[in-house]
Amino acid sequence: MSTPKTFYVTTPIYYVNDEPHIGHVYTTTVADVMARFHRLAGRDVFFLTGTDEHAAKVVDSAAAHNVTPIQWADRNAKSFQETFAKLAISNTDFIRTTQDRHKTRVQAYVKALMNSGDVYLGDYAGWYDAGQEEYVTDANAEKQGFKSAINQKPLVRKTEKNYFFRLSAYREPLLALLERGEEFDGCRFNVLPEARKNEIVNRIKEMNDVPISRTGQGDWGISIPGDDQHKIYVWIDALFNYISTVDTDERRKYWPADVHLLAKDILWFHAAIWPAMLLALKKQPGYEWVLLPKSVYSHSFWIHEGVKMSKSLGNFIDLKEIDQYIATFSLDALRFFLAAEGPLGTNDSDFAKSKFIETYNTALANTLGNSLSRTSNMTTKYFGGVLPAPVADAGDATLTPEVVAGLAAASAKAYEELDLSGAIASALGIVRKVDEFIEKTKPFTLAKDPANLPRVATILYNCAEALRIASVLLWPVIPGKIQELWARFGQDYTAQLAAAPATGGVDHLAQWLTWGGLKPGTAIVIGEPLFPRYVPPKV
Ligand code: MSP
Repeated sequence: MSTPKTFYVTTPIYYVNDEPHIGHVYTTTVADVMARFHRLAGRDVFFLTGTDEHAAKVVDSAAAHNVTPIQWADRNAKSFQETFAKLAISNTDFIRTTQDRHKTRVQAYVKALMNSGDVYLGDYAGWYDAGQEEYVTDANAEKQGFKSAINQKPLVRKTEKNYFFRLSAYREPLLALLERGEEFDGCRFNVLPEARKNEIVNRIKEMNDVPISRTGQGDWGISIPGDDQHKIYVWIDALFNYISTVDTDERRKYWPADVHLLAKDILWFHAAIWPAMLLALKKQPGYEWVLLPKSVYSHSFWIHEGVKMSKSLGNFIDLKEIDQYIATFSLDALRFFLAAEGPLGTNDSDFAKSKFIETYNTALANTLGNSLSRTSNMTTKYFGGVLPAPVADAGDATLTPEVVAGLAAASAKAYEELDLSGAIASALGIVRKVDEFIEKTKPFTLAKDPANLPRVATILYNCAEALRIASVLLWPVIPGKIQELWARFGQDYTAQLAAAPATGGVDHLAQWLTWGGLKPGTAIVIGEPLFPRYVPPKV
């Protein structure tokens, strides 16, 4: 067997100053759906998520809770891990930037950058808000009348020594890669969706060198090699997680990543600073393997009932609310809503309860759940629960193997392109065809005359087989419910997936999307509704 293609997908590593909220859960769920799809297709998948721990705000938040930074980080990192486990996230590894495996490698990378000549010690000058302990941009300082926006005290012109990365030296390479779509130094690199690329290209044209170290953060952080006074700027430390985790003999095959998933808030770091640092590192001995990631995909934001989520408004959909959705609608219903209605494109999406209920009832209860019930009920009623052979002509071409194959191919293609709502729409399109087919052929009327039973047999066989194929395509999104469906259809797919090598090689997708997988004679079990219709409680 040839070596399976690898697929490496990452999420941002999340700050541990607080617990996870729906935004973190969203990106990680999208990555999970991608990872599952590619595993289904037999690829050797590496799916990385984790936590970014050396931020100054972790120190502040720990102090506010009277614990040490590492105690605070431990607590929240655990919360992220538990939350992801609860959400059926199938990550391969979970990186914490406070782990030695990360810290030692980051120091080596920064050392190599220092050797490259692209790092220099310089002066950083800017307007400093001492109360807030942060620099204010020149434009904002002017807007604020050179006073603190918080306590109105005058801003101070401050100069500090910092290590800088020569980002400006990478303007041309980045423009070649992004603006002109060319190859550079054996690498290609893309920013998706396309509409986001322009903003980045314009900013690259004006970019300056960036500081990569910080002082005044105490002991928290990774030291600049040979200079304990300076800690590596948390963003530089964090970006390196994507290679530090796979920088071992067994895992280097996964690099370059296929896609870094993240939101628009942190696109600049991933689309400009990260590739520039990699190009610098790549020139150093031993780092020739450090190519550029193939793509960075930046999605938009979830807002909540029409309002941007923020700390000051305290309106994040938090763990408690996430748990309530799971308890009321099921985990898969939450995953489905996130994947189908999420802000993967350039528009924000509204997480509104009414929209959730509408999506749930329309797509899951009335479409998927309903056609499964109809098909299994009729199979039980007319054929004693045993799937009949398709012996006669169905007498209608709404649901043929070709129709199903067309929609299945469209769904798989959309998955490959990270178009989750498209992938789901085509998979559900198959289910809708099942409904339409039942409406048109009326097997419940036909069955009244025994002479029609061969035709009813074909109709029900086609319905069940189409549902099986749709189920394979929906598994990455709603794995729990689909596993129930497979059990009712007598398929051992769950076991086959569990037994498949983690390094890929078994293309279940191609096998299972082929028409004819359900064998006549298979027992079809009627179960509880997969997604019972939700009726809001009366107030
Ligand atoms: N630690 C940095 C990332 C370093 S990556 C090398 C960071 N962390 S974060 O905790 O603030 O997470 C930001 C990410 O969380 C966003 O890029 C996005 O993936 C996700 N989201 C946070 N809020 C979100 C929404 N309201 N909607 C959708 N995703 C959101 O930045």
